[in-house]
Amino acid sequence: MSVRLRLGVNIDHVATVRNARGTDYPDPVAAALLAASAGADGITAHLREDRRHIRDDDIARLRAELPVPLNLEMAATDEMLAIALRHRPHAACIVPEKREERTTEGGIDAAGQFARLAPMCAALAQAGIRVSLFIEPSAEQIDAAIRLAAPVVELHTGRYAELDGPDQAGAREVELRRLADAAALAAKNGIEVHAGHGLTTGNVAPIAAIPQVRELNIGHALIADALFVGLAEAVRAMRAAMDAARG
Ligand code: PXP
Repeated sequence: MSVRLRLGVNIDHVATVRNARGTDYPDPVAAALLAASAGADGITAHLREDRRHIRDDDIARLRAELPVPLNLEMAATDEMLAIALRHRPHAACIVPEKREERTTEGGIDAAGQFARLAPMCAALAQAGIRVSLFIEPSAEQIDAAIRLAAPVVELHTGRYAELDGPDQAGAREVELRRLADAAALAAKNGIEVHAGHGLTTGNVAPIAAIPQVRELNIGHALIADALFVGLAEAVRAMRAAMDAARG
């Protein structure tokens, strides 16, 4: 019997819709509470430097109201570190951030940015916040995560998700193998493995089946599905797809 896979629901795009009109609805905190009652094991929110979706007061309200752990996605900046230390989420996932990108386009270069990340990881750990590094599935990045004493890595599944064309099956298998190898290497070194980006009910199965993966963080596709079936049903359907793959 494999370990149950946790589902972290990313509610950023509820805030995207709210901010498109400058209204106070739809409320991402209300969505988080609904997702939690429908079976989400945690909630993820990315406070971007430009506040394009989640805003500071959303983080304060999530911390006050959530019955499940909050995973704060944050860039490796002094501003975000101060915010994390003030709000003390359960976990902080450090992601790369570029102002002009549409979404987080790659993993953080934990190896290349070691000197910047080391004091940040130490400060977060000291405050009792679980550090997660959003990285590409490579041995070099896992090695850096080990040296940074990160308890968690989140493997970037974006490349896997994009390789969905009929003539891309081979490349997709290669990427899946990279993800599985990275998960095994991290777990062997005592690091908890999460994964996410670009996952849908249609492509989640092979990722959910990697035995070392303990948590998936999923946002865009879930919120898109929610437009048609409602958020609670979208969360249940994702949960069912994950559980079926886990066996
Ligand atoms: N994990 C991380 C670290 C992310 O940055 C994102 C996107 O905000 C996700 C998971 C969720 O990706 P998606 O919205 O494509 O499901």
